[in-house]
Amino acid sequence: MTADLFETVPDVRPSREAMADGAVLLRGFVKPFESDLIAALREIVAQAPFRRMFTPGGHQMSVAMTNCGSAGWVTDRSGYRYDGIDPNSGQPWPTMPTVFCQLAVQAAIAGGFDGFAPDACLINRYEPGARMSLHQDKDEQDFAAPIASVSLGLPAIFLFGGPKRADKPRRYRLEHGDVVVWGGPSRLFFHGVAPLADGEHALLGHQRINLTFRKAR
Ligand code: SIN
Ligand code: FE2
Repeated sequence: MTADLFETVPDVRPSREAMADGAVLLRGFVKPFESDLIAALREIVAQAPFRRMFTPGGHQMSVAMTNCGSAGWVTDRSGYRYDGIDPNSGQPWPTMPTVFCQLAVQAAIAGGFDGFAPDACLINRYEPGARMSLHQDKDEQDFAAPIASVSLGLPAIFLFGGPKRADKPRRYRLEHGDVVVWGGPSRLFFHGVAPLADGEHALLGHQRINLTFRKAR
């Protein structure tokens, strides 16, 4: 074998970028899961379509959501919570597909968190202009487990702050296939997404899809 042969092999290893103590950006981590993941996503959305929920204050969110897994995150006039039942259908949320779970568990390990067992996957759909204001993920029963957050489709600017709302967030451009994992010391850090710029993604069109894996219960 010659050195040339090795030089022609593309470097497909995902990169690992520290964002804070306990938080990492894994660029390109989705690649080996991509086709199975998108096929499974299409099945979930056929069973439990995206819908724009209302905040307890009565505002309709710009991001459309659905869920899979035994616990789904919902919001309505009575508050934010996890519920095993999709309020639109009265049926349980679709089961979390194996490929979803494998991706989340492996990303958590790559982020330094062994033993992640997500029971909730919130699926967010951003159309151009949709945004998510700074918030903490704190509706889960315990904060020992990390969050794993998968980006698909159009790129977005992810805002990652600190433990206080007033902490100035850093801006990260998340592309199709990137995963962010945060837990431990940064588990309750404020985060959000800037208004999505228009564009067209080859697989997903004019939208960004985010999968947020959590251990809710
Ligand atoms: C979220 O915090 O639920 C969504 C984050 C994202 O869309 O990247
Ligand atoms: Fe969040």
